[in-house]
Amino acid sequence: MRILLFGKTGQLGWELNRTLAPLGDVYAFGPDELDLIEVDTLTRTIREVQPELIVNASAYTAVDRAEQEPKLAMLLNEKVPMVMAEEARKLNAPFIHYSTDYVFDGAKTSAYTEDDLTNPLNVYGHSKLKGEQAIGQVGGAHVILRTSWVYSLRGNGFVSKVLSWARSQDTLKIVTDQVGSPTWARMLAEVTSAMAARSFSDSWEYFLEKSGVYHLGGAGGVSRFDFTRAILELDPHPEEQKVKELEAALTADFPTPAIRPLTTTLDCSRFNRVFELSMPDWKNTLRLALEK
Ligand SMILES: NC(=O)c1ccc[n+]([C@@H]2O[C@H](COP(=O)([O-])OP(=O)(O)OC[C@H]3O[C@@H](n4cnc5c(N)ncnc54)[C@H](OP(=O)(O)O)[C@@H]3O)[C@@H](O)[C@H]2O)c1
Repeated sequence: MRILLFGKTGQLGWELNRTLAPLGDVYAFGPDELDLIEVDTLTRTIREVQPELIVNASAYTAVDRAEQEPKLAMLLNEKVPMVMAEEARKLNAPFIHYSTDYVFDGAKTSAYTEDDLTNPLNVYGHSKLKGEQAIGQVGGAHVILRTSWVYSLRGNGFVSKVLSWARSQDTLKIVTDQVGSPTWARMLAEVTSAMAARSFSDSWEYFLEKSGVYHLGGAGGVSRFDFTRAILELDPHPEEQKVKELEAALTADFPTPAIRPLTTTLDCSRFNRVFELSMPDWKNTLRLALEK
């Protein structure tokens, strides 16, 4: 299978570049090979590669900066995925794309299902929702995986930041009122690739029949505060920690340009049922991610 992957330098794309490899030839692009704002070059590239599957892990993900750059966020999160979906449809290639829990306003107290009403609170969430809708309108065989709180031990995501703060600060002040489903980028890539492998002989028909939006995050929900506590507990080098106290705070204590939704735990039962695959519990996954 010829697989075209976008976003190979990102948290998720880096992992996908590895987990998709056993399925065929992966043609992976990052910003150095192709700046996605050049939509004509994007179209030409897809036509040249002639993929049998397109996986898009690229996105404009700077949640706060998006408030100042709404046009760029919309271009990368709405127009670019729409063009990818159109080209995929012309090639009869399934299209796998990722969206976010930030399409919700976070006011629901139980886990969100795919049938819940969306109501993004910030430009990033709005642009990702527009991307979902644009792909849906194009049609074709598409799977949109809405995920949340993605972390990787590469780069400077939340887990790496907590481990670093714990080595330099006595007290960590962490919010208790944001609740979500932490998702290890590697596990998300593994599950995506297992899903793609299911379709091997008839991938267009397989995904056409299952097209739509699915929730896919680490199973269960946890507050940022308790997630931080778990990271500190599972730290493979606790002897390096300097931190003595974890202090509870509220989102309102840390004003940011973009408003964050508070409770966005995802109910992933539709994905589990349709693809007969599931993401493990967030804490077991964190244990695997941090194990020495
Ligand atoms: N991170 C989260 O907590 C989270 C939560 C929910 C959903 N998601 C969704 O999950 C998916 C993967 O997220 P992630 O955390 O892996 O994101 P990420 O680490 O920010 O990676 C995004 C990728 O897109 C690339 N990119 C951005 N602008 C580009 C451009 N103009 N041309 C070419 N490439 C460009 C980035 O390149 P460079 O960075 O190398 O420039 C990077 O490879 C995205 O759809 C995101 O919206 C993420």
